[in-house]
Amino acid sequence: MHQLPPELTQIIIDTDVIQKRVHDLAAQISKDYADVDQLHVVGILKGAFIFMADLCRQLTIPHLVDFMALSSYGKRASSTGAVRILMDLRENIETKHVLIVEDILDTGQTLNYLMQTLSSRKPASLRTCVFLRKRPYKSPMSLDYLGFEIPDVWVVGYGLDYAEIYRTLPYVAELNRKAIEAKGG
Ligand code: IMP
Ligand code: MG
Repeated sequence: MHQLPPELTQIIIDTDVIQKRVHDLAAQISKDYADVDQLHVVGILKGAFIFMADLCRQLTIPHLVDFMALSSYGKRASSTGAVRILMDLRENIETKHVLIVEDILDTGQTLNYLMQTLSSRKPASLRTCVFLRKRPYKSPMSLDYLGFEIPDVWVVGYGLDYAEIYRTLPYVAELNRKAIEAKGG
């Protein structure tokens, strides 16, 4: 058992469960892209960095990694709206097979923006692999690969943060909003 800090209410997905799911996703992706010369795996910073690293190390197909950084929600656990590119890809994706790796799908705004932006660059294919999705769905978007569905709470760990903290926890946990608010967060 992990010792939880008081700012977290409960573990939602534990380390061994995450590892097993990531292993299965990597196997499925490797199978689906078996005939592709080189898959461009595009991780969305910062939230996807741990998922991306674990996933890619288990792919058995030729692939390269690239990253994009998008504007985020800021420090608080709520949405502000607009999406901007803070750091673009290094590689040209025209005629390439591209798999977007993202941490979480909430309103769908981030991923919608990404799909539009990247598809305008004429990749051979464009798919999505998302670690978490909140239920109930706020967007009708369909995903190609999904790790887990979770309830509509603010979660941290395995790449996900609250005000830049808790990203490197090896599990996914629910943030304790009361404890955060009491501290003036
Ligand atoms: P969307 O654009 O509303 O789908 O939100 C996606 C982005 O919001 C993700 O890439 C995360 O950076 C952030 N986000 C949404 N929910 C959470 C959460 O529960 N914990 C941490 N980050 C989140
Ligand atoms: Mg993100």
